[in-house]
Amino acid sequence: MCGIIGYVGKKEALPILLQGLRRLEYRGYDSAGVAIANKGKICRVKSVGRIDKLTEKTKGKNLAGSLGIAHTRWATHGGVTEANAHPHTSCGDKITLVHNGIIENYQEIKEKLGAKHKFVSDTDSEVVAHLIESCYDGDLRAAVEKALADVRGTYGIAVMSNDEPDKIIIARLGSPIVIGMGQDEYFVASDPTPLLPHTKEMVFLDDGELAEITDKGVKTYSLEKQKAVKKEVETIDWDEAKAQKQGHPHFMLKEISEQPHVLQDAIRGRYDVEEGTAHLGGLNLTEEQMRKVNRVVFIACGTASYAAMIGKYAFERLAGISTEVDVSSEFRYRDPVVDKNTLVFAVSQSGETLDTLAALREAKRRGAQVRGIVNSIGSTIARETDGGTYIHAGPELAVASTKAYTNMTAIMLLYALQFGRLRGVSLGTGKKLIKALLEIPAKIESVLEQSDEIKKLAKKYSKYEAFLYLGRGVNFPVALEGSHKLKEISYIHSEAYPAGEMKHGVNALLSEDFPVFAIATKNQLYEKMLSNIEEVKARKSKIIILANEGDDKVANLANDVIYIPETMELLEPLLNTIPLQIFAYHMAVLLGRDVDRPRNLAKSVTVE
Ligand code: F6R
Repeated sequence: MCGIIGYVGKKEALPILLQGLRRLEYRGYDSAGVAIANKGKICRVKSVGRIDKLTEKTKGKNLAGSLGIAHTRWATHGGVTEANAHPHTSCGDKITLVHNGIIENYQEIKEKLGAKHKFVSDTDSEVVAHLIESCYDGDLRAAVEKALADVRGTYGIAVMSNDEPDKIIIARLGSPIVIGMGQDEYFVASDPTPLLPHTKEMVFLDDGELAEITDKGVKTYSLEKQKAVKKEVETIDWDEAKAQKQGHPHFMLKEISEQPHVLQDAIRGRYDVEEGTAHLGGLNLTEEQMRKVNRVVFIACGTASYAAMIGKYAFERLAGISTEVDVSSEFRYRDPVVDKNTLVFAVSQSGETLDTLAALREAKRRGAQVRGIVNSIGSTIARETDGGTYIHAGPELAVASTKAYTNMTAIMLLYALQFGRLRGVSLGTGKKLIKALLEIPAKIESVLEQSDEIKKLAKKYSKYEAFLYLGRGVNFPVALEGSHKLKEISYIHSEAYPAGEMKHGVNALLSEDFPVFAIATKNQLYEKMLSNIEEVKARKSKIIILANEGDDKVANLANDVIYIPETMELLEPLLNTIPLQIFAYHMAVLLGRDVDRPRNLAKSVTVE
């Protein structure tokens, strides 16, 4: 969703801001803009559409200067127009701002400001610029503080003023904002990714905090306590190169192909072969506390929730703990029953998904132990949970999640093993699981080598308008994820079902025009799965089967087969999902879709 970038220093701000905007593109946007302070005047350029168009428009404009802010907008209040793009200004251009989040009482504020304020956009954000102006009395920081006291909603803002062109004021409530610490130069952004080319030293504002940034330094304040607060500088060890396409046509393909490697990053140092167990230190629970956990609840959205379903199978099988997966947007508005012996995991790639954040706050309020399984370092979910684990997938920039799903799954398996070893999983089983896990990266490599074959298959099936994905047991969430990937990026309708459920309704949909993707690897439900596939075949649907190498039974049932290596049942999703990701990718490319930035979707869903 919307992205913010800002610069204060000695260099020309424009190229830095435009490069930053490009690095924010992955979040999803429909318009963009930039504002730079030049000799006491702020010059602004905005454009609908891609950053290339904005870049074109900046040519020949008076945008010299070494302090500025810029924004990518993903429309919420008001349509996709240049007027609605950020930065917004107050009357007479005294105040310029960019805003992420939603101002709930903007109508009320607008009415209070009265007719002397002329609004030129339909946005809630513009109202804040006018509000700050109405509070301005020669001190920008004081004006922002005063204005924010009247604002209800969420914000990450960066503000400049004509009258104080040496500073940017930023503030945060519910929408992240990060400061990149350079040498006599400072950067501002809505997430660490666009800052990586410049610095790895970052300060994360917490909710209710504000910062005043000049080229002399950064001062941070608490809005509530109205006094200075000291913030730690954190080092983000993400590799800048990982945020580039590195020769791949799309980020998604690059991220799919990184999976063998990043899976190793996720598990490295977190298992003990001799003891047949895992050590995820961030759990912050003693063994005694771990033994008392009698329920696990995963809260997550989308792909993260499908990964969590695999976590459920693992926790129930290995640790014998009753486990649920709750979609965050449902959990937060129910009356979830949790207590101090319930361990709630908030699972999120971005660490910023608003529903998951609200759900974790609700779980905390009700007394549960809440931990995070998160990719983005320093993100809000990581900060608000009382421990947890980073999944170390590195920057994931394609909207469709791939490597983060794999790493989340691996971490949940390790957690389940760690609990399981305290509750009856034998040393032998523990060792076997770790040994099998260590073999997964090489096996993923071998699946990746089939990309061209899978592409041919995608070509063959790209004319169909709807698909059905079937799986059972651990492969039901795999079916859900395969179907989710296909619809997200190729816009083809697809459904996913537990295969045993077919005869309770979905069989009615089966026909020659409704291809079925069936996951039938050799686990305890293999025979049952084959019977379900027989039923599909009898109804004339075309069938693609995902089967284990050497399985010659499936060939008679299938129109096409993708063969993949065998592994332990609980680890199957780590392998079985990969061909489904590749299939969805090729389908989307063949259909000419915008693979990395599918329509109507954003990478980081920071609104409800
Ligand atoms: C799917 C996808 C979304 C996200 C969901 C949760 O490819 O990207 O379904 O999985 O929006 O996002 P995070 O994991 O950032 O909380």
